[in-house]
Amino acid sequence: MRSIVFTSGKGGVGKTTIALNLGLILARAGKRVTVVDADLQMANLGIMLGVDAAPITLHNVLAGENVIADAIYQGPAGLKYVPSGLSTERLDKLDYSKLPDAIKSLGEQNDFVIIDSPPSLGKDAEAAMKCATEAVIVMTPEPSSLADALKVKIMADRLGTKITGIILNMSYGDKTEIKPEDLASVMEAPVLGVLPEDREVRRSTALQQPVVLRAGESPFSKALYAFAHKILGEQAPVAPPKARKGLLASIMSLLNSLFGKR
Ligand SMILES: Nc1ncnc2c1ncn2[C@@H]1O[C@H](COP(=O)(O)OP(=O)(O)OP(=O)(O)O)[C@@H](O)[C@H]1O
Ligand SMILES: [Mg+2]
Repeated sequence: MRSIVFTSGKGGVGKTTIALNLGLILARAGKRVTVVDADLQMANLGIMLGVDAAPITLHNVLAGENVIADAIYQGPAGLKYVPSGLSTERLDKLDYSKLPDAIKSLGEQNDFVIIDSPPSLGKDAEAAMKCATEAVIVMTPEPSSLADALKVKIMADRLGTKITGIILNMSYGDKTEIKPEDLASVMEAPVLGVLPEDREVRRSTALQQPVVLRAGESPFSKALYAFAHKILGEQAPVAPPKARKGLLASIMSLLNSLFGKR
Protein backbone atom coordinates (compact mmCIF):
# COMPACT_ATOMS: atom_id res chain seq x y z
CA MET A 1 0.00 0.00 0.00
CA ARG A 2 1.25 3.49 -0.86
CA SER A 3 -0.01 6.27 1.36
CA ILE A 4 0.39 9.69 -0.23
CA VAL A 5 -0.41 12.92 1.57
CA PHE A 6 -1.27 16.04 -0.42
CA THR A 7 0.00 18.95 1.60
CA SER A 8 0.76 22.65 1.23
CA GLY A 9 1.94 25.69 3.08
CA LYS A 10 -0.64 28.03 1.63
CA GLY A 11 -4.35 27.20 1.76
CA GLY A 12 -6.65 26.99 -1.24
CA VAL A 13 -4.00 25.75 -3.68
CA GLY A 14 -6.00 22.70 -4.82
CA LYS A 15 -5.06 19.83 -2.47
CA THR A 16 -8.58 18.47 -2.01
CA THR A 17 -9.39 18.82 -5.71
CA ILE A 18 -6.21 16.99 -6.68
CA ALA A 19 -6.46 14.29 -3.99
CA LEU A 20 -10.06 13.45 -4.87
CA ASN A 21 -9.65 13.50 -8.64
CA LEU A 22 -6.37 11.58 -8.57
CA GLY A 23 -8.13 9.00 -6.39
CA LEU A 24 -10.87 8.69 -8.99
CA ILE A 25 -8.37 8.27 -11.83
CA LEU A 26 -6.50 5.55 -9.94
CA ALA A 27 -9.78 3.81 -9.00
CA ARG A 28 -10.85 3.89 -12.65
CA ALA A 29 -7.51 2.29 -13.52
CA GLY A 30 -8.54 -0.66 -11.32
CA LYS A 31 -6.55 0.28 -8.22
CA ARG A 32 -8.02 -0.11 -4.77
CA VAL A 33 -8.07 3.46 -3.48
CA THR A 34 -9.31 5.18 -0.33
CA VAL A 35 -9.19 8.97 0.01
CA VAL A 36 -9.06 10.16 3.62
CA ASP A 37 -10.14 13.67 4.60
CA ALA A 38 -7.53 14.52 7.21
CA ASP A 39 -8.53 18.20 7.12
CA LEU A 40 -10.28 17.70 10.43
CA GLN A 41 -11.28 21.33 10.95
CA MET A 42 -12.38 22.23 7.41
CA ALA A 43 -13.76 18.98 6.03
CA ASN A 44 -14.24 19.55 2.30
CA LEU A 45 -13.97 16.12 0.69
CA GLY A 46 -17.61 15.09 1.23
CA ILE A 47 -18.78 18.50 -0.01
CA MET A 48 -16.70 18.16 -3.18
CA LEU A 49 -18.19 14.71 -3.72
CA GLY A 50 -21.69 16.10 -3.25
CA VAL A 51 -22.55 13.55 -0.58
CA ASP A 52 -24.65 14.02 2.56
CA ALA A 53 -22.99 14.38 5.96
CA ALA A 54 -21.87 10.91 7.03
CA PRO A 55 -23.09 9.36 10.29
CA ILE A 56 -19.62 8.12 11.31
CA THR A 57 -16.52 10.11 10.35
CA LEU A 58 -12.83 10.39 11.08
CA HIS A 59 -13.83 12.57 14.03
CA ASN A 60 -15.47 9.53 15.67
CA VAL A 61 -12.33 7.50 15.01
CA LEU A 62 -10.01 10.08 16.57
CA ALA A 63 -12.39 10.53 19.48
CA GLY A 64 -11.97 6.80 20.17
CA GLU A 65 -15.61 5.92 19.46
CA ASN A 66 -15.18 3.93 16.27
CA VAL A 67 -12.56 2.16 14.21
CA ILE A 68 -11.73 3.57 10.78
CA ALA A 69 -13.46 0.63 9.04
CA ASP A 70 -16.75 2.09 10.34
CA ALA A 71 -16.05 5.39 8.57
CA ILE A 72 -15.33 4.07 5.05
CA TYR A 73 -17.92 4.92 2.41
CA GLN A 74 -18.34 3.96 -1.22
CA GLY A 75 -17.82 6.83 -3.69
CA PRO A 76 -18.08 6.96 -7.49
CA ALA A 77 -15.98 4.80 -9.85
CA GLY A 78 -15.14 2.27 -7.13
CA LEU A 79 -13.40 4.89 -4.98
CA LYS A 80 -13.74 4.62 -1.23
CA TYR A 81 -13.49 7.60 1.08
CA VAL A 82 -13.26 8.47 4.75
CA PRO A 83 -14.89 11.85 5.46
CA SER A 84 -14.18 14.20 8.33
CA GLY A 85 -16.97 15.60 10.45
CA LEU A 86 -18.54 18.91 9.46
CA SER A 87 -19.23 19.97 13.04
CA THR A 88 -16.68 22.00 14.97
CA GLU A 89 -18.15 21.07 18.35
CA ARG A 90 -15.88 18.22 19.29
CA LEU A 91 -12.61 19.28 17.68
CA ASP A 92 -10.95 19.55 21.10
CA LYS A 93 -11.73 15.87 21.76
CA LEU A 94 -9.80 14.58 18.75
CA ASP A 95 -6.61 12.67 19.44
CA TYR A 96 -4.40 13.25 16.37
CA SER A 97 -1.94 10.62 17.55
CA LYS A 98 -4.52 7.93 16.62
CA LEU A 99 -4.35 8.91 12.94
CA PRO A 100 -1.20 7.03 11.82
CA ASP A 101 -2.40 3.67 13.17
CA ALA A 102 -5.85 4.20 11.71
CA ILE A 103 -4.35 4.86 8.27
CA LYS A 104 -1.98 1.91 8.59
CA SER A 105 -4.94 -0.38 9.24
CA LEU A 106 -6.28 0.48 5.76
CA GLY A 107 -3.19 -1.12 4.23
CA GLU A 108 -4.52 -4.61 3.57
CA GLN A 109 -7.53 -3.48 1.54
CA ASN A 110 -5.85 -0.76 -0.54
CA ASP A 111 -3.23 -0.17 -3.19
CA PHE A 112 -3.34 3.58 -2.47
CA VAL A 113 -4.45 5.62 0.50
CA ILE A 114 -4.60 9.27 -0.46
CA ILE A 115 -4.62 11.72 2.43
CA ASP A 116 -5.98 15.23 2.04
CA SER A 117 -4.10 17.39 4.52
CA PRO A 118 -5.00 20.78 5.95
CA PRO A 119 -2.59 23.53 4.87
CA SER A 120 0.16 25.02 6.98
CA LEU A 121 2.32 23.55 9.74
CA GLY A 122 -0.17 22.95 12.55
CA LYS A 123 -0.48 19.75 14.56
CA ASP A 124 -3.29 18.54 12.29
CA ALA A 125 -1.06 18.97 9.19
CA GLU A 126 1.80 17.30 11.03
CA ALA A 127 -0.45 14.33 11.96
CA ALA A 128 -1.50 13.97 8.30
CA MET A 129 2.13 14.07 7.21
CA LYS A 130 3.12 11.43 9.78
CA CYS A 131 0.59 8.92 8.45
CA ALA A 132 1.94 8.90 4.93
CA THR A 133 4.87 7.12 3.39
CA GLU A 134 5.08 9.87 0.75
CA ALA A 135 4.16 13.53 0.44
CA VAL A 136 3.24 15.56 -2.61
CA ILE A 137 3.50 19.29 -2.02
CA VAL A 138 0.93 21.35 -3.91
CA MET A 139 1.69 24.96 -4.68
CA THR A 140 0.78 27.75 -7.03
CA PRO A 141 3.38 29.53 -9.17
CA GLU A 142 4.06 32.54 -6.95
CA PRO A 143 7.02 33.37 -4.69
CA SER A 144 4.85 33.41 -1.53
CA SER A 145 3.57 29.92 -2.29
CA LEU A 146 7.16 28.75 -2.80
CA ALA A 147 8.28 30.21 0.52
CA ASP A 148 5.40 28.40 2.24
CA ALA A 149 6.08 25.15 0.38
CA LEU A 150 9.69 25.25 1.56
CA LYS A 151 8.52 25.34 5.16
CA VAL A 152 6.41 22.25 4.50
CA LYS A 153 9.43 20.55 2.94
CA ILE A 154 11.42 21.27 6.07
CA MET A 155 8.61 19.74 8.16
CA ALA A 156 8.55 16.63 5.94
CA ASP A 157 12.33 16.28 6.27
CA ARG A 158 12.06 16.58 10.05
CA LEU A 159 9.32 13.91 10.21
CA GLY A 160 11.18 11.64 7.79
CA THR A 161 8.38 11.63 5.19
CA LYS A 162 9.72 11.24 1.67
CA ILE A 163 8.72 13.99 -0.76
CA THR A 164 7.69 12.26 -3.97
CA GLY A 165 7.36 15.54 -5.78
CA ILE A 166 5.72 18.88 -6.30
CA ILE A 167 2.57 19.87 -8.13
CA LEU A 168 2.32 23.34 -9.54
CA ASN A 169 -1.39 24.09 -9.75
CA MET A 170 -3.39 26.95 -11.25
CA SER A 171 -0.71 27.75 -13.79
CA TYR A 172 -1.55 30.25 -16.51
CA GLY A 173 1.70 29.44 -18.30
CA ASP A 174 2.67 33.08 -17.91
CA LYS A 175 6.34 33.97 -18.18
CA THR A 176 6.28 35.63 -14.74
CA GLU A 177 5.52 32.26 -13.11
CA ILE A 178 8.17 30.19 -11.34
CA LYS A 179 9.68 27.79 -13.85
CA PRO A 180 9.32 24.08 -13.07
CA GLU A 181 13.09 23.54 -13.38
CA ASP A 182 13.81 26.34 -10.89
CA LEU A 183 11.18 24.95 -8.58
CA ALA A 184 12.67 21.46 -8.76
CA SER A 185 16.13 22.71 -7.90
CA VAL A 186 14.98 24.86 -4.98
CA MET A 187 12.70 22.19 -3.55
CA GLU A 188 15.19 19.40 -4.32
CA ALA A 189 12.29 17.30 -5.60
CA PRO A 190 10.85 16.62 -9.04
CA VAL A 191 7.91 18.57 -10.42
CA LEU A 192 5.39 15.83 -11.13
CA GLY A 193 2.78 18.00 -12.75
CA VAL A 194 1.94 21.50 -13.91
CA LEU A 195 -1.83 21.78 -13.76
CA PRO A 196 -3.48 24.66 -15.58
CA GLU A 197 -5.91 27.18 -14.18
CA ASP A 198 -9.14 25.82 -15.63
CA ARG A 199 -12.65 27.19 -15.16
CA GLU A 200 -14.05 23.65 -15.40
CA VAL A 201 -12.43 22.92 -12.03
CA ARG A 202 -14.26 25.77 -10.28
CA ARG A 203 -17.51 24.88 -12.04
CA SER A 204 -17.16 21.26 -10.93
CA THR A 205 -16.51 22.36 -7.35
CA ALA A 206 -19.60 24.57 -7.48
CA LEU A 207 -21.68 21.71 -8.88
CA GLN A 208 -20.18 19.27 -6.33
CA GLN A 209 -19.13 16.91 -9.10
CA PRO A 210 -15.50 15.79 -9.46
CA VAL A 211 -13.97 17.39 -12.55
CA VAL A 212 -12.51 14.18 -13.98
CA LEU A 213 -16.01 12.69 -14.04
CA ARG A 214 -17.77 15.83 -15.25
CA ALA A 215 -15.20 17.23 -17.65
CA GLY A 216 -12.70 14.45 -18.30
CA GLU A 217 -11.37 16.17 -21.42
CA SER A 218 -10.72 19.52 -19.75
CA PRO A 219 -7.11 20.77 -19.66
CA PHE A 220 -6.92 20.20 -15.89
CA SER A 221 -8.25 16.63 -16.16
CA LYS A 222 -5.81 15.77 -18.94
CA ALA A 223 -2.88 17.14 -16.93
CA LEU A 224 -4.05 15.18 -13.88
CA TYR A 225 -4.14 11.96 -15.93
CA ALA A 226 -0.51 12.61 -16.89
CA PHE A 227 0.34 13.11 -13.21
CA ALA A 228 -1.47 9.85 -12.34
CA HIS A 229 0.70 8.00 -14.87
CA LYS A 230 3.76 9.31 -13.08
CA ILE A 231 2.38 8.21 -9.72
CA LEU A 232 1.81 4.77 -11.20
CA GLY A 233 5.41 4.78 -12.39
CA GLU A 234 4.51 4.54 -16.05
CA GLN A 235 6.68 7.50 -16.88
CA ALA A 236 9.74 8.53 -14.93
CA PRO A 237 9.38 11.99 -13.40
CA VAL A 238 11.85 14.63 -14.44
CA ALA A 239 14.75 14.51 -12.00
CA PRO A 240 15.54 17.75 -10.22
CA PRO A 241 18.44 19.53 -11.88
CA LYS A 242 21.46 20.60 -9.87
CA ALA A 243 20.85 23.41 -7.42
CA ARG A 244 20.99 26.85 -9.02
CA LYS A 245 22.07 30.09 -7.50
CA GLY A 246 19.73 33.06 -7.53
CA LEU A 247 16.70 34.50 -5.80
CA LEU A 248 14.96 31.17 -5.25
CA ALA A 249 18.07 29.53 -3.82
CA SER A 250 18.53 32.43 -1.44
CA ILE A 251 14.91 32.15 -0.20
CA MET A 252 15.67 28.51 0.53
CA SER A 253 18.89 29.10 2.40
CA LEU A 254 17.21 31.85 4.42
CA LEU A 255 14.40 29.47 5.41
CA ASN A 256 16.85 26.70 6.16
CA SER A 257 18.81 28.96 8.44
CA LEU A 258 15.62 30.17 10.15
CA PHE A 259 14.55 26.57 10.76
CA GLY A 260 17.98 25.49 11.86
CA LYS A 261 18.81 23.28 8.90
CA ARG A 262 22.28 23.48 7.30
N1 LIG B 1 -6.38 24.24 -11.56
C1 LIG B 1 -7.42 24.90 -11.08
N2 LIG B 1 -8.09 25.81 -11.85
C2 LIG B 1 -9.13 26.51 -11.37
N3 LIG B 1 -9.61 26.38 -10.12
C3 LIG B 1 -8.99 25.50 -9.31
C4 LIG B 1 -7.89 24.72 -9.73
N4 LIG B 1 -7.51 23.92 -8.69
C5 LIG B 1 -8.34 24.19 -7.68
N5 LIG B 1 -9.23 25.14 -8.04
C6 LIG B 1 -10.30 25.74 -7.21
O1 LIG B 1 -9.67 26.37 -6.11
C7 LIG B 1 -10.49 26.26 -4.95
C8 LIG B 1 -9.65 25.64 -3.83
O2 LIG B 1 -9.38 24.30 -4.17
P1 LIG B 1 -9.22 23.20 -3.03
O3 LIG B 1 -10.34 23.27 -2.06
O4 LIG B 1 -8.98 21.90 -3.71
O5 LIG B 1 -7.88 23.72 -2.34
P2 LIG B 1 -7.22 23.21 -0.97
O6 LIG B 1 -5.76 23.36 -1.12
O7 LIG B 1 -7.74 21.88 -0.63
O8 LIG B 1 -7.79 24.29 0.06
P3 LIG B 1 -7.64 24.24 1.66
O9 LIG B 1 -6.22 24.60 1.95
O10 LIG B 1 -8.62 25.28 2.12
O11 LIG B 1 -7.98 22.85 2.09
C9 LIG B 1 -11.70 25.44 -5.36
O12 LIG B 1 -12.76 26.31 -5.65
C10 LIG B 1 -11.27 24.71 -6.63
O13 LIG B 1 -12.33 24.49 -7.51
MG1 LIG C 1 -8.67 21.19 1.15
